[in-house]
Amino acid sequence: MQYLIHMSRKLLWLGALMLLLLAFTAPQLMAQSVRPPGNAVNLDDGTEPGPSNALGDVSDTEIWDQFRGGDPANLLGPALDGQAMTTTGQQWRMVRENLIRKYLGWLPLIVIGLLAVFYLIRGPMRISAGRSGKTIPRFSHNARLAHWFMAAVFIILGLTGLIILLGRPVIAPYLGLQANSILTSAAMQGHNLFGPLFIVALVWLFIKFVRGNFFQLVDLKWIFKLGGFFGSHVSSRQFNFGEKSWFWMVILGGIVISATGILLLFPWLVDDIRWLQLSTILHALAAVVLIAVAFGHVYVGTIGMEGSIDSMLKGEVDENWAKEHHDLWYEEVTGKSAKEETS
Ligand code: HEM
Repeated sequence: MQYLIHMSRKLLWLGALMLLLLAFTAPQLMAQSVRPPGNAVNLDDGTEPGPSNALGDVSDTEIWDQFRGGDPANLLGPALDGQAMTTTGQQWRMVRENLIRKYLGWLPLIVIGLLAVFYLIRGPMRISAGRSGKTIPRFSHNARLAHWFMAAVFIILGLTGLIILLGRPVIAPYLGLQANSILTSAAMQGHNLFGPLFIVALVWLFIKFVRGNFFQLVDLKWIFKLGGFFGSHVSSRQFNFGEKSWFWMVILGGIVISATGILLLFPWLVDDIRWLQLSTILHALAAVVLIAVAFGHVYVGTIGMEGSIDSMLKGEVDENWAKEHHDLWYEEVTGKSAKEETS
């Protein structure tokens, strides 16, 4: 009897223990019986080891969309708040590789080609009355120094900048990767060193040349006659519309190049990387356009127009050159009429 009582007690404990175990395991067992979502990946099919539904119920695209804030931001898009990553780096690379490197680099070459064709058809613009042998002062020593300082800094920065931008697709295939890497590193050091001097040159150039470069009514005539490049001379004061446009392109383009250059040289000045991505694009864009137009300026200043270079080399120009190209300025400076018999 005693034995029976003892055994039934044991059975009771065992039953209680089993009930307890069942109470803990039942929810898990029930959960496993729930049908998995249709898009779940089942790795328990014997082909791959690992827990079931290891990749979760969310597709890769949705996960990356969540990282990007669900809205792939563009370069000028909202701030980075709440986004773990953006796609602007990718977009920046696409613009740099596919637009700037592929197409914009050709712009200076296209301008050189057009100038060559123009020179072959039109030839140099001669002083029609020939040189008079008498000169009048045009630019002070300081103004010429400001001009040549800018020209020297611009050429150094233009060359080193083009090597940095186009070295990989243009130089590397011919000289090899290692030579290109040495050349590009040297170009970058030179570019960073001379960059700040560009700002000094820009301010100096502005101070020395801004007077006389404001647009006036007389410039309209120049525009309508396309600068007289295809026919007779057009009246102008110290600077014609073409020169004035070049001056303001240099100043405004120079401001963009300087501001973006400062950001690229001191990247810690901004806390959003998109400013730097935008800066590299604007910097290259403004620089390549200025380089291309500079070829036109150098052409007119040298082989394109007889007597022009004297103003920047000697500071004086031939009287007949002044009468033909800057008649109103000639009258202001000399008090004589530009329509008188050419000397
Ligand atoms: C190295 C080649 C260059 C040559 C041969 C050259 C030649 C000249 C000449 C002859 C003039 C005077 C035109 C006149 O008397 O009306 C002039 C003016 C000027 N140049 Fe150059 N230049 C060169 C490079 C540059 C560069 C690289 C820049 C700027 C990035 C520049 C900016 C200017 C400006 C702003 C003026 C004054 C025009 C105005 O104020 O409207 N030049 N240049």
